[in-house]
Amino acid sequence: MTKIAIVYHSGFGHTRVIAECIARGAAETDGVHAVIVAAEDLPSPEDKDMAGKWDELQAAGCIVFGCPTYMGSITAEIKRVFEASSSLWVDQRWRDKLAAGFTNAAATSGDKLNTLQDIFHFCMQHSMIWVSQGVMFGGPSENDINRMGSYMGCMAQSADDSPEVTPPPGDRQTAELFGKRLAEITKQFEAGATA
Ligand SMILES: Cc1cc2nc3c(=O)[nH]c(=O)nc-3n(C[C@H](O)[C@H](O)[C@H](O)COP(=O)(O)O)c2cc1C
Repeated sequence: MTKIAIVYHSGFGHTRVIAECIARGAAETDGVHAVIVAAEDLPSPEDKDMAGKWDELQAAGCIVFGCPTYMGSITAEIKRVFEASSSLWVDQRWRDKLAAGFTNAAATSGDKLNTLQDIFHFCMQHSMIWVSQGVMFGGPSENDINRMGSYMGCMAQSADDSPEVTPPPGDRQTAELFGKRLAEITKQFEAGATA
């Protein structure tokens, strides 16, 4: 069984919607199990000695990290998780796992690229292998896929409304396609490693 872990922080629920779409897309591939892990379930070593759901990440062939863009960057909570992972970094425990990133913000830009770059550099510190969005720009409307033309990772935009109505359908579909791509690539990668 190929495992994909989707680690996310979401202050108000909109980014969690994107995490769920990625999981749904990933689960479309036979033999792939996607697990969603909230940042709050990854305690820092000084709190609980790496208890919580850290094992879910270790068991995954691909770890996807996401958070809203706050003040043009990653959120403090996902940064806490990143810093907590330094005790795994020392022994390069995630080396050669696949990695990817997603973010969501109020503006179509909102400096989301900087958030993806933060996530990318974090994954490079762990010697992981980055997987891109892999969906072509489909047009600028809310029903279009990859309407913000992001290739490094998955971007979504949420209006000032509840997570039931925003992010819009095109962004949800983009996230599902992203999850499907991650599942297929992870499965292929793991099959190649055991061939
Ligand atoms: C402290 C804070 C900082 C924010 N900074 C940005 C920003 O830099 N760019 C942007 O477009 N939206 C910004 N936003 C808006 C959020 O990214 C947006 O509301 C997002 O949908 C929140 O996702 P969540 O519901 O998963 O927390 C900010 C919101 C907060 C609370």
